[in-house]
Amino acid sequence: MPFIVALVVFAEIAFLGRLDMAKNAAMVNTWTKSFYYGSSGEVSASEEEDPFEGLGVGDGKSGEVVESCEGWLEREDSVAYSRDFGKDPILVSGPDEEWKSCSVGCNFGSIPEKKPDASFGLLRVGGAATILRSMESSHYYAENNIAQARRRGYNVIMTTSLSSDVPVGYFSWAEYDIMAPLQPKTESALAAAFISNCGARNFRLQALELLEKSKIKIDSYGGCHRNRDGRVDKVVALKRYKFSLAFENSNEEDYVTEKFFQSLVAGAVPVVVGAPNILDFAPSTESLLHIKEVDDVASVAKAMLHLAEDPEAYNRTVRWKYDGPSDSFKALVDMAAVHSSCRLCIHLATKIRESEEKGPEFQKRPCKCTRGPETLYHLYVRERGRFEMESIFLSKAVPVLVAIAEMSITLILVCASRGHALIHDSKLSSNLTLAAMESAVLAKFKSANHVPVWKEERPKSIRGGDELKVHRIHPVGLTQREALYTFRFNSNDGFRSYIDSHPCAKFEVIFV
Ligand SMILES: *[C@@H]1O[C@H](CO)[C@@H](O)[C@H](O)[C@H]1NC(C)=O
Ligand SMILES: *[C@@H]1O[C@H](CO)[C@@H](O)[C@H](O)[C@H]1NC(C)=O
Repeated sequence: MPFIVALVVFAEIAFLGRLDMAKNAAMVNTWTKSFYYGSSGEVSASEEEDPFEGLGVGDGKSGEVVESCEGWLEREDSVAYSRDFGKDPILVSGPDEEWKSCSVGCNFGSIPEKKPDASFGLLRVGGAATILRSMESSHYYAENNIAQARRRGYNVIMTTSLSSDVPVGYFSWAEYDIMAPLQPKTESALAAAFISNCGARNFRLQALELLEKSKIKIDSYGGCHRNRDGRVDKVVALKRYKFSLAFENSNEEDYVTEKFFQSLVAGAVPVVVGAPNILDFAPSTESLLHIKEVDDVASVAKAMLHLAEDPEAYNRTVRWKYDGPSDSFKALVDMAAVHSSCRLCIHLATKIRESEEKGPEFQKRPCKCTRGPETLYHLYVRERGRFEMESIFLSKAVPVLVAIAEMSITLILVCASRGHALIHDSKLSSNLTLAAMESAVLAKFKSANHVPVWKEERPKSIRGGDELKVHRIHPVGLTQREALYTFRFNSNDGFRSYIDSHPCAKFEVIFV
């Protein structure tokens, strides 16, 4: 009896295997050729074209070793790219820039006889991609508006917007000692302001005047409503105050300047007029006060007075200085651990590879491997800020016993729909899930003793140990706004259908 069961199982596996082969008729040759190793096992690179020639593959001789799906996919999917960025780095025509290192070959400047991949400005130098780079608000410089810049013909946009192709922010661990310890709040005024001019295309002047009227004592060091000598070190001065008026000159998404980050360094709670999404930039949800509109001034003034008189409540707003900022804040600032020029090169090199992947050699990659009841999917993942990809594998499997029980049903389904129903049956067990992807990614990077790209940049107190923690995993090509805040696969089904429609899908992981 057990023997018969075994036979049925075997027949079922063979049957299911053939189903998928029929489905992928174009692959059948590769399959039969590379499915089995001869007893000699190893395949050397030079033999890759046809490693099984003369080995009597598949003829049933004893000593055959079945090649793993992983091995087969690694080999079949690894089509060589025509450009090796190590030997032929990305070239951006423009002023030479200084940065430490980049995970893809990346040069700025000009090299005789070599066409640049991209150049700043709208002059298309020899077909190079055009780059717009600016840190100014689009409320003042309309050309920095992403849609407008695209209409004008810019291919790569680098602005403070996290929706731009390569964001250039005012923040980085290197520029701001964000975890600097708190100093005693010795000033009698509640807040300090460094506002250079009163004119602005938002209500910041009005907010300042309304705060003054609400009995909030403000020391103003800037040109606007000055009552203190402005020749001071801004951060040193701010440290003595409980609050800092971080009033930007425009209320634009993601436009958050040094006014805000210097307040964080100083441990003076920022009172913000500016980006409507300032909470995305907050080290903790309680760490700032936001004047979203003029009508908020009264309640914010009340909150300031309350916090000033209640040491425990005030301490909660600066709690992150002791306990560390949120993962979300770390993930945002970590982006800048890789210089924007390097991120630009990674962006350009990724685009070059993506366009090559549309070619026939890449379209022929199998990207998945079906062995009996199991289908293994080949996915790629890299850390944000790095270029090269690592392989991970997830499987979709039919448990054998279920398969047997459903054999007759299966046959009917096969007749009805040529086998597709079997593969897409929702009852199938599977580890093609978001949770399994996360653990596969962790296992992969842990086994390689991976060191996150931000490790050396972060302040020691929040660098963590050797452990890796996944913050986000998302498809390559999303903007940072999507990657950090808005994108989520809505379910395992959504994830699976993404994998089905993106063979050899590529992901980026953000560690915190
Ligand atoms: C604020 O909280 C920190 C961390 O719990 C504590 O060490 C510090 O003494 C507190 N300060 C005040 C003024 O309560
Ligand atoms: C998913 O399943 C495959 C095949 O059963 C296995 O090799 C892999 O380790 C599993 N991955 C995870 C993350 O569970």
